Amino acid sequence: EHGLDVDVIYGARTVDLLLIKDKIEKVATNLFYVTDDGSYGEKGFVTNALEKRINDYDICVAIGPVIMMKNVCELTKKYNLRTIVSMNPLMVDGSGMCGACRCEIEGKPKFACIDGPEFDGHKVNFDLAMKRMNIYKEEEKEKWDMMKKSLGRN
Ligand code: FES
Repeated sequence: EHGLDVDVIYGARTVDLLLIKDKIEKVATNLFYVTDDGSYGEKGFVTNALEKRINDYDICVAIGPVIMMKNVCELTKKYNLRTIVSMNPLMVDGSGMCGACRCEIEGKPKFACIDGPEFDGHKVNFDLAMKRMNIYKEEEKEKWDMMKKSLGRN
């Protein structure tokens, strides 16, 4: 829509998790698929595909799991490629009041709901973000197990 060339490196664990392919194919100048298991496109991770072409780009936008965005930022930092990430922490009120979505950007607290969710990826404390995303892991597992049990699944 803005007349920019945008390459997309679209990765997933396996082919069944590559969603909305048709929409992405319509907007991408060049599209590179990557799957962890090699079931579609190149086998590997988005970082492998990105590093092969990294000198072609002026800016990188990484959206997806926090660990992927962290790895992309570690790579792009080496090549001094500006990188924007879209943080996806737990959100409760979405108004900057509850603090649930707090991220650390350049050592300072920011709220993804009102200050982001896009941030300079080279300034994000990803280790803290991953730790905070696991705060309710036990409760999530309990709920998941309860749900499976109620559906008669193990
Ligand atoms: Fe509550 Fe952002 S969701 S502060």
